[in-house]
Amino acid sequence: MRLENRVAVVTGGGSGIGRAIARAFAQSGAKVVIADIHADAARESASLIQKEGGIALSITTDVANPASVQNLVAATLQHYGEVHVLMNNAAIQVNKRIEDTEDEEWNRQMAVNVGGVFLCSKYFLPPLRATRGAIINMSSVNGTFVEPMCAGYCATKAAILGFTKAVAIDHGWEGIRVNAICPGYIDSGLAEGYFLAQSDPAAARAQAGRLHALRRIGKPEEVARLAVFLASDDASFMTGAAIAVDGGFSAGLPGN
Ligand SMILES: NC(=O)c1ccc[n+]([C@@H]2O[C@H](COP(=O)([O-])OP(=O)(O)OC[C@H]3O[C@@H](n4cnc5c(N)ncnc54)[C@H](O)[C@@H]3O)[C@@H](O)[C@H]2O)c1
Repeated sequence: MRLENRVAVVTGGGSGIGRAIARAFAQSGAKVVIADIHADAARESASLIQKEGGIALSITTDVANPASVQNLVAATLQHYGEVHVLMNNAAIQVNKRIEDTEDEEWNRQMAVNVGGVFLCSKYFLPPLRATRGAIINMSSVNGTFVEPMCAGYCATKAAILGFTKAVAIDHGWEGIRVNAICPGYIDSGLAEGYFLAQSDPAAARAQAGRLHALRRIGKPEEVARLAVFLASDDASFMTGAAIAVDGGFSAGLPGN
């Protein structure tokens, strides 16, 4: 199996794309840590993986809180002794124009989406150095191709692209690979929240499908397969890259 004897941490692994990635990592042989701010959701993902015959542990974590991230690192090492893969997936999305966005909402979104990627990368770096491990950062097509009513979210996803490249060049000589994933619309929590924030959610969902060359939105499992590839030795010469898994969203003008 591609991730046999590896330990993989998935932030935001309690639902949606993160849960699908955690399951795919476990199905590929990895021992998984589910780090999510929602304890019940994290436990549910871990028990799902265990029922499927995999090895998983849940650790309640707020990726925006340095002490919580340090606890995640310590608990992971205490339990498994090493770490090979850090999947920075946790994020929130404020679906408002900037005048309607409270300062606190802006700050929290930055702290979770960008700050969380920084804190987890920083504090997992020593154990990742020891295993010549891999960091995978969840960006989005919105890191490059923006949409209405989510300026702050788009800003965080663009920041992650720059961060990914910068950390890749700082730590490539140590054998640490750092890549980003840019999904199109995926049928999970943040997309659902975006649809619900529009005046006609059903129409927004249908319209979203039409933005992709394949004329549909994606499934979490379709993102998870790319994460497994980037985590594995199959991607041994890949670092500093941003890979689209977007049904052709970024290939042309919307609807083409
Ligand atoms: N759904 C999409 O269409 C889509 C498209 C492109 C990129 N993405 C990205 O994929 C990732 C997952 O999105 P999703 O749609 O599965 O979202 P989701 O809301 O289903 O899952 C996000 C998870 O992150 C957790 N989380 C939130 N704040 C946290 C914190 N401070 N600390 C730890 N965990 C926290 C939540 O509890 C939740 O379990 C995000 O990074 C998102 O930006 C999603």
